[in-house]
Amino acid sequence: MSANRPAAVVVLAAGEGTRMKSATPKVLHSLCGTSLVGHVVGASRSLDPGHLVVVVGHAREQVAAHLAEIDEQAHTAVQEQQNGTGHAVRVALEELAQHGVLVEGTTIVTCGDTPLLTGATLRHLSEVHESEGNAVTVLSAEVPDATGYGRLVRAADGAVLEIVEHKDATAGQRAIREINSGVFAFDGRLLADALGKVRRDNSQGEEYLTDVLGILREAGHRVGAAVAADHREIAGINNRVQLAQARRTLNERLLEEAMLAGVTVVDPATTWMDTAVTYEPDAVVQPGTQLEGATHLGAGSEVGPHARLTDTVVGAGARVDNTVAEGAEIGAGAKVGPYTYLRPGTKLSAEVKAGSFVEMKNAELGEGTKVPHLSYVGDAVIGEQTNIGAASVFVNYDGVDKHRTTIGSHCRTGADNMFVAPVTVGDGAYTAAGSVVTKDVPPGSLAVARGQQRNIAGWVARKRPGSAAARAAEAAADGSGRTSGEGGSES
Ligand code: UD1
Ligand code: CA
Repeated sequence: MSANRPAAVVVLAAGEGTRMKSATPKVLHSLCGTSLVGHVVGASRSLDPGHLVVVVGHAREQVAAHLAEIDEQAHTAVQEQQNGTGHAVRVALEELAQHGVLVEGTTIVTCGDTPLLTGATLRHLSEVHESEGNAVTVLSAEVPDATGYGRLVRAADGAVLEIVEHKDATAGQRAIREINSGVFAFDGRLLADALGKVRRDNSQGEEYLTDVLGILREAGHRVGAAVAADHREIAGINNRVQLAQARRTLNERLLEEAMLAGVTVVDPATTWMDTAVTYEPDAVVQPGTQLEGATHLGAGSEVGPHARLTDTVVGAGARVDNTVAEGAEIGAGAKVGPYTYLRPGTKLSAEVKAGSFVEMKNAELGEGTKVPHLSYVGDAVIGEQTNIGAASVFVNYDGVDKHRTTIGSHCRTGADNMFVAPVTVGDGAYTAAGSVVTKDVPPGSLAVARGQQRNIAGWVARKRPGSAAARAAEAAADGSGRTSGEGGSES
C-alpha cells in the first residue's frame, strides 16, 4: 500500500497558545533545536504535497517570517480572528483559491502544536484514507488520559460516527479513551463543501473542523479512522510541562536512532541531542552532554562528560572533554579540554591540542599545534607543530578594532606571552617567557621582549628589618638554612 502525493497539507497555527505564558508565540518554541511548527512543516513536507499552507493569526508577522526562513515554498494564510479549526481550514482553502488552486484529492490537516507526529504516520493516515476510499479519515489514538481531547464516537460495529469535543461530551462519551489527534485526511472537494455547512452552535461558539465528520457521514459518505501506533506521537503542546515531556520523548527517539546507527550513548538520561545532529559509527557520548544545532561527531570520536557543542564538527578519533564549543571545527585526533571554550571560527587541524582554561575565537591552528594551558587565542592563524607557552594572550583588540596575529610552523613561544596584534612570528622562531611581542619576529629568531632582571642586594634587611623574610634571609646568609620565630620549625 503506498499513498499518492497529497494535493495539499494545511497546518493550523493561528492560535495564541495562552497557556505557554510566553512572549514567544507557542509554535515558535523550540524542541530539540527546531520550532514546534518547524517539526510539523518538516513532517508535512516529507509527503511532497502539491501545496503546503500554514494558517497564521496570533503574532502572524513573527510566525510568517520564521516560515519564510524554514520553508520558502510554504503559503501562509491569515486567519484574522480565531473562530475555530473549521474556520481556519476554510481560510486556508480560500487562500489557495485566490491563487487559482482548487484543491481536489487528498488534503491533510494537521496542527502546529503537534510536533512529534512523524512523516511516516502522516503517510499511514493518507494510505488508509485512500485505500478505504474515505471522504474523511481521522488520525486517532488510545490515550491513558483523554481529558481535553475530542472523543471518537463509534457505532457498535466500529464505524466512526462523530467527534465530540470534551466540553460538549456527555459523561458516557467522556469515558471513551480513543481521541481525535486533530489530524485528518479529507477528500478536498468534499471538505470545501462540508466546511460551508459547519455551524457555531457549541460550547465555544466556534466552527469546529470535527463537525465535518458528522456532516459527511450524514450525506452518505465514508468516514474512517487510522489509529496511531504510538499515542505519544500525537501529543499536543499547550503548556511548558507538555513541552518538556515532548522534548524528553523526542530526545529518546533521537538517541535511539543514534545508538542503532553505532553511537555509544553512555547515559541517555543526561544526554541531549538536537534534530540536526549527525554522527558516524563508534562515536562515544559521555554523560551530561548537549549536542546542539548541526553538530557532527566523527567516527570513533569521544565527547563529554559535560560537553556543550553547538554547530560544531568533531573529527574522527578526536577527544573533547568538559568543553563548550560553538561554530568550531575540531580536526581528526585532536584533543580538546578539559575546560576549554571554542568560539565561532575556531578551526583546529588534525592532532591539535587545546588544553585547560583555553579560549579560542576565529583562530586557525595547523596540524599538531598545541595550546596546552590557560590562554586566549583570538583572530589568529598558527602553523603546524607549534607550541604556544602557558598563559599566553593574543591581544587582538585595541579598544576600537580587532587585529590578527600570525604565527608560523614549528615555533616555540614562551610562557606568559602577549602577542599584540597585528604581529607576525616567523617559522621556527622562539620567544622568551614573559615577552610582550609588539614587533614581527623573523623566522628562526629568538624574541626577548621584557624588562631585564635586576637584583638589589640586602634590600629586605634594610627595608623590612625584623620581618620573617629578613630572618630567613639572614639564616640563609649564615649558611645554617634554619629560621626561628613564628612559622619556623624548631624540632
Ligand atoms: C483540537 C480538536 C480536538 C482534538 C485536539 C487534539 C477541534 C474543534 N478540536 O482541540 O478534537 O482532540 O485538537 O490536540 O478541532 N487553531 C487555529 N485557528 C482557530 C483555532 C485553532 O489555527 O481558530 C489552531 C491552533 O493554533 C492549534 C490547532 O488549531 O494549532 C488546534 O486548536 P486548539 O485550540 O489547540 O484545539 P484543541 O482544543 O486542542
Ligand atoms: Ca491543542
